[in-house]
Amino acid sequence: MIEVKNISKSYGTTKAVRDISFRVEKGDVLGFLGPNGAGKSTTMRILTCYLTADSGTASISGFDIFTNPLEVRKRIGYLPENNPLYMEMGVLEHLKFIARMRKIPGQSVKTKIEQVMDICGLEEIISKDISELSKGFRQRLGLAHALIHDPEVLILDEPTIGLDPYQIIEIRNLIKSIGREKTVILSSHILPEVSATCDRVLIINRGEIVGSGTPLELASIAQGGQKIIAGIRGPFEEIISKLKKMEKLSDIKHLGENNGINQFELSSKSAADLSEEVFFLVAGSGWSLTELFRKTINLEEVFLDLTTKEARGKPG
Ligand SMILES: Nc1ncnc2c1ncn2[C@@H]1O[C@H](COP(=O)(O)OP(=O)(O)OP(=O)(O)O)[C@@H](O)[C@H]1O
Ligand SMILES: [Mg+2]
Repeated sequence: MIEVKNISKSYGTTKAVRDISFRVEKGDVLGFLGPNGAGKSTTMRILTCYLTADSGTASISGFDIFTNPLEVRKRIGYLPENNPLYMEMGVLEHLKFIARMRKIPGQSVKTKIEQVMDICGLEEIISKDISELSKGFRQRLGLAHALIHDPEVLILDEPTIGLDPYQIIEIRNLIKSIGREKTVILSSHILPEVSATCDRVLIINRGEIVGSGTPLELASIAQGGQKIIAGIRGPFEEIISKLKKMEKLSDIKHLGENNGINQFELSSKSAADLSEEVFFLVAGSGWSLTELFRKTINLEEVFLDLTTKEARGKPG
């Protein structure tokens, strides 16, 4: 379990992290989602004891990160941003080196290495040099590095950056399966990433948490009201004028026309369901309804909404 309370950190005059608090329960995957410079890596470096915070407290599995960093480090596997590896080492040599650093007893090293090779799919590269590896395999090796001592907590800073779509899916699945037994925090600015991998998301912008929830909850926060898409065949001007008279409507957008069918995006003021009203309006007017569905707002829209609002509110 990870508990963070009111952590702040500045670099000179740059406030990188401002009063951040959150919890992650065992078995949960939490995503940090935020644009460049949001403070994701800084928060991760603080939690992994590579950096001290200016104020606030945090604990990992009950151990305070400031007063008990050795116990904290034992329990954390960390994949840093840019996954620094010793290029001149062989893959097996590197894993043995990490096992030694992690003080894994000599007789267990072989088993531990076999386990992470298996989890991370390293068999085919085990006798290669790190400098020969493709980006995806380097990333997998970085994950193996983070996992070798079987930590309770995993902190992964942009684990899929630079990977091809196949590798992204593989690493995501890997994280998901690891995440069932461990507590995981990962960062990303790739929006589908967090919705695919994480149970919960914190949207971070300019060092602050500007939104949090499950991917679904966040979508409904930004939504406020609700949007439906309707395809209607009938006289355009008349349709517009009648739709505009609907009481629950707050906004109407004409999306286009195809073969005499006009497509509209209709927004309602609250969670009021417009669908029924649209259906009866169309039927009563003698037009035809070719489609009618509720639009789901994706995380991308929430993200842009929350982060740009924040930027507008805080000049500089
Ligand atoms: N070592 C440093 N010295 C000075 N400023 C720093 C340092 N590291 C980070 N910063 C600043 O702190 C802020 C947060 O940076 P951080 O690296 O935590 O962001 P991030 O969310 O990880 O961004 P990215 O998505 O680009 O990795 C930025 O304004 C950054 O310029
Ligand atoms: Mg970063």
